[in-house]
Amino acid sequence: MSNKFRKMNLVFASPIPVYEIADFERINAEIIKEIDDRMKNEAGMVRSNRSGWHSDLDFFARKEPAHRELAQKIMQCLADATQRVANKEALKNLRLECDGWVNVNPKGGYNVPHDHPGAFWSAAYYIKVPPSATGGMAGSIEFIDHRSAPPGQGLVKSPYMRSLHAMKPAPGTLVVFPSTLKHWVHPNDADEDRITIAINAKIAVDPAKMQQAKVEAAHESNRLVPGLEGPGGDAPQLPQPAAKGKKAPAKRQPAKA
Ligand SMILES: [Fe+2]
Repeated sequence: MSNKFRKMNLVFASPIPVYEIADFERINAEIIKEIDDRMKNEAGMVRSNRSGWHSDLDFFARKEPAHRELAQKIMQCLADATQRVANKEALKNLRLECDGWVNVNPKGGYNVPHDHPGAFWSAAYYIKVPPSATGGMAGSIEFIDHRSAPPGQGLVKSPYMRSLHAMKPAPGTLVVFPSTLKHWVHPNDADEDRITIAINAKIAVDPAKMQQAKVEAAHESNRLVPGLEGPGGDAPQLPQPAAKGKKAPAKRQPAKA
């Protein structure tokens, strides 16, 4: 009698949703000009960046047209990402609070390993990604699992046990990840600047929506909060708790667009 494999549980996943921003080529060309102007007039600041220019944390409050347009599209993606991982009932009275900043990494510039305390999501949007002069990992973002790989992983090379995962997104890509997931950016070895936007998105309780929800609770059972609405899509649905005496539905309907 042979042993029977029952199932493989995959727990403590790190969702990293990836988006391509609509009309990114035009927006990137426009925002590069706006960033050039800002760099002439703003000193910037030093955080995880080594070398390069790091703007103030005011990306979502900027008035420049391309900044505003991109900020709105990023908010839509973050809302969609939240819908894809969240309990729909929990979203009813919540909103996203975002801040962001511009990173300009010249040749040799990089970001040391760090995470983004206080946020739910963090994200990086790619405006300009010069090809590496040497190939390889230059300019890549690399995620670091705080659980180190177990001994033997170097021999086994399991895709489930590794503790590093690198990506080199193309311009127009928005990479979203849990804020607690450590990451760093490999040094840019190209002669051109690498330009990205970094984003933090907090989940906050919205008292106004809480009050409105109380009024509407008798009429709606699964309403999505406008502030968290996104493009929708084939979001995976989490099982919902069944009401007392009622059986939970087998499958929930996809989120509204
Ligand atoms: Fe970061």
